[in-house]
Amino acid sequence: TAEEPVAWLNAPGIQATRPHASHKGTWGDVAVIGGESDASRGISMRGAALLAARAALSSGAGRVYVSLLGNSDLWLDTIAPALMFRRFDALDFSALTSVCGCGGGETVAEVLPALLAAAPRLVLDADALNVIARDPKLKLSLANRDTQGHATVLTPHPLEAARLLACSAAEVQADRLACARELTQRFRSTVVLKGSGTVIAAPDQLPNINPTGNARLATAGTGDVLAGMIGARMAAGLDAFSAARTAVWQHGHFADLWPDDLPLTAERLATPP
Ligand code: APR
Ligand code: MG
Repeated sequence: TAEEPVAWLNAPGIQATRPHASHKGTWGDVAVIGGESDASRGISMRGAALLAARAALSSGAGRVYVSLLGNSDLWLDTIAPALMFRRFDALDFSALTSVCGCGGGETVAEVLPALLAAAPRLVLDADALNVIARDPKLKLSLANRDTQGHATVLTPHPLEAARLLACSAAEVQADRLACARELTQRFRSTVVLKGSGTVIAAPDQLPNINPTGNARLATAGTGDVLAGMIGARMAAGLDAFSAARTAVWQHGHFADLWPDDLPLTAERLATPP
């Protein structure tokens, strides 16, 4: 069957195509696990999970599930009604690409052991990284995933990277390339060290410094959007390094294309026109 280029999955060096006769199964399934809410403490981070999930949909994932942590009574996203909501224990994550973190709060500690042990493709962001940074057993479990053939992408911003490496954010910023490589080696994972000049590193690969993006991205939730974009690409069959590189490139490219006289917010980036 004919192959058609998919411009929104492309980045320099990667020309993504899809068969004309593709169906939603071809594009794979993503589950976003996070978005904790806890009414008794008066907090809710549901928005973070919804941003990642909407971004995964916009990036072409065939099906996107949202698993909200805590006692959530949210079962529909009226902006993106294609999203399906599932309790974590009702999710078959062995068949999915999982994106975990995204406003997860402390509750991610309850799902991380299972995900680290069994999720074949896993993107870890934000609180998932913070919880792992404090727990030697989870660190070991993360480092062992590679030997089981499981693919992992870590998407720390400089402070999250510093927690994982037990150093300061200033030390991370002083040598971003070295830190990304160190994280890659320690955890046998693809690493996206975020911030201006995002570094993408992976075992046995030359690290990349992403040339796209600008300070418009310095607004709450853009990191959640990136995690969803990476997850969709892994679900579509890209290897972790290619998924990370193309997503980071596109995420920045969208911000570069954004009209000067229009505000950029994370939800606009998650669901572009
Ligand atoms: N130039 C280029 N890219 C930038 C710039 C910049 N000046 N500033 C930010 N970005 C990009 C980063 O590279 C990254 O892709 O925007 C994104 C910001 O992601 P995060 O730092 O994760 O920010 P955010 O999504 O708001 O995180 C929300 O989650 O990680 C936790 O503690 C964090 O409370 C925060 C929450
Ligand atoms: Mg973040």
